Amino acid sequence: MNTLTLSTHPIVADRLTRLRDVNTTPEQFRGHVHALTLILASEATQALSLQDSQVETPLQAHTGSALQEHITLVPILRAGLGMVSALHLLIPQADVRHLGFYRDEEKLEPVAYYEKLPKGQASDCCLVLDPMLATGGSAIAAIDTLKEWGCPRILFLGILGAPEGARALERAHPDVAIHLCGIDERLNEVGYILPGLGDAGDRLFAT
Ligand code: PRP
Ligand code: URA
Repeated sequence: MNTLTLSTHPIVADRLTRLRDVNTTPEQFRGHVHALTLILASEATQALSLQDSQVETPLQAHTGSALQEHITLVPILRAGLGMVSALHLLIPQADVRHLGFYRDEEKLEPVAYYEKLPKGQASDCCLVLDPMLATGGSAIAAIDTLKEWGCPRILFLGILGAPEGARALERAHPDVAIHLCGIDERLNEVGYILPGLGDAGDRLFAT
């Protein structure tokens, strides 16, 4: 099953190039991530289901629509935080469950350091947010955690992926739709995406 969708929006291509630029300031970087996530999320959420919803207009009763599933945003700390505000603009009723993973810099494996998912109260649908899909280890581990929690439907939204990470995530979780703004050439020997944009967390948070 092919689960990977790449945005073809021209504004995505333009903003992605600005995002990569080494001269982009953290303030500009956050703005580009916000704009990219808005477009990406608009595209990714087209697959969400609707149900009828009653509303009273000033003139009469009307049967409109509401999202059927309860949506949970799951930013992977830290860099996923940069994508939350754009999602909240589109789905203000979404709740947020943070998952903390950092990459062990030698083994390039994800190390879990934060998880507080309430037992027995799994969300209907989780949108996992992380700008970078490098080896795929962090995304795979986050999605493992959400499936153990009991979440039946999961989408992954990222800004940039490496082919290695996209393949690994597709293999590990073929039921998860992956939405990316772009996919790059490869990983370098220390697990960074090339040409990439460097360390997304450091660039977002000026560290
Ligand atoms: C970065 C990024 C992803 C992860 C991707 O996080 O935000 O979470 O690396 O790499 P992977 O696909 O090989 O797992 P990092 O560990 O640098 O933590 P940070 O967000 O706190 O900077
Ligand atoms: N994490 C990042 O922030 N950048 C990369 O290129 C790879 C992992």
